Amino acid sequence: MPHPNYAIDEMISAKSIAARIEELAREIRTEFADTDKLVVVGLLRGSFVFIADLVRELDLAVEVDFLEASSYGDGMESTREVRILKDLRGQIEGRDVLIVEDIVDTGHTLAHVTKFLGSRKPARMKTIALLDKPARREVDFKASYIGFEIPDEFVVGYGIDFAQRNRNLPFIGKVRFIDES
Ligand code: IMP
Ligand code: MG
Repeated sequence: MPHPNYAIDEMISAKSIAARIEELAREIRTEFADTDKLVVVGLLRGSFVFIADLVRELDLAVEVDFLEASSYGDGMESTREVRILKDLRGQIEGRDVLIVEDIVDTGHTLAHVTKFLGSRKPARMKTIALLDKPARREVDFKASYIGFEIPDEFVVGYGIDFAQRNRNLPFIGKVRFIDES
């Protein structure tokens, strides 16, 4: 296997992520305190670590479901045209829903997914993204909850990949390409 020509510099430590998730969970618990059973929807695959940590901090009755939307493929550029590859297993009509995403970048994915799920008439629908890159936005979208605002850098770790690698890093790191010429 060729040695990848990039290095990863830590941007957000595992400890900072855990502390921020505790704060976010407190806000979400307050917002959904009156909910019978919250449907927490993770967007595959990037949100799998975040949703696992988040739901364990939520002292609420939750149902966990997953949705997969098409994304970058193996590149670093958004495809912009979002397709639903895997739908929810459960019903959300009349339910309270929290959509969990890893990063809001151009905004196309969450804009599309909220429209797609919103058409099923949930009682309340909120979105949470661990990371937000506002400088990259192409469509007007703002998540209800954001973990960290970050600059326009390509990041990996804590569920987030570069060509299906590095999802298992416990921290968020920034990809730095190494010029070998
Ligand atoms: P958007 O549709 O452009 O907002 O893209 C959102 C999706 O792009 C995220 O769910 C990620 O899967 C992917 N993405 C955006 N920025 C990065 C990054 O820095 N590293 C890895 N994936 C990213
Ligand atoms: Mg994604």
